[in-house]
Amino acid sequence: MICWPISRRHWADAGKDGQMLKLCRLDDLVVGKARLLNAGHNHLILVRSQANAVQAYLNRCPHLKIPLALQDSQLMSPDGSAIQCATHGALFVPESGFCISGPCKGEQLWSFTCLVENASVYLDETELPNLPTEN
Ligand code: FES
Repeated sequence: MICWPISRRHWADAGKDGQMLKLCRLDDLVVGKARLLNAGHNHLILVRSQANAVQAYLNRCPHLKIPLALQDSQLMSPDGSAIQCATHGALFVPESGFCISGPCKGEQLWSFTCLVENASVYLDETELPNLPTEN
C-alpha cells in the first residue's frame, strides 16, 4: 500500500480545529485512476476528476468493512470506469462512491471532499473517522 508523507497546515475555514492535511500534489493523481494513501489510521482512496477536483473515500467496503483493494493497480475496473472491490468485483462510481454492482449495491463509500489549492490536495482532518483498524 502506498504511504505518502502528509503535512499539516492551518486553514482558516477548515473544521473546528482548522487543521488541513496535505495529502499529495495534484500531479500525483492521474485522471481515470485511483490511488491509495494512508492518513493517520485511515486508508484512503483518492480520485481525480477531469475538472481537477479530488474526491477521497475510505478504503473500506460498506458491507464487510474491509479494504476494497490493497494496491493501486487493483482499485479500478478493467475499463477504468469504476472503483472496484478487488475481492468481489463490486463497482463504485468514482465521482460519488455509490455502489452500482455487487453485494453492496445501493450503498456508498464513506467520502470526503478534498480542497485543491496551489496544485496540492488537502483534507480537513476533523472529517476523518476514528475507526478501529481492520488489520
Ligand atoms: S468487501 Fe464488499 S464488495 Fe467486496
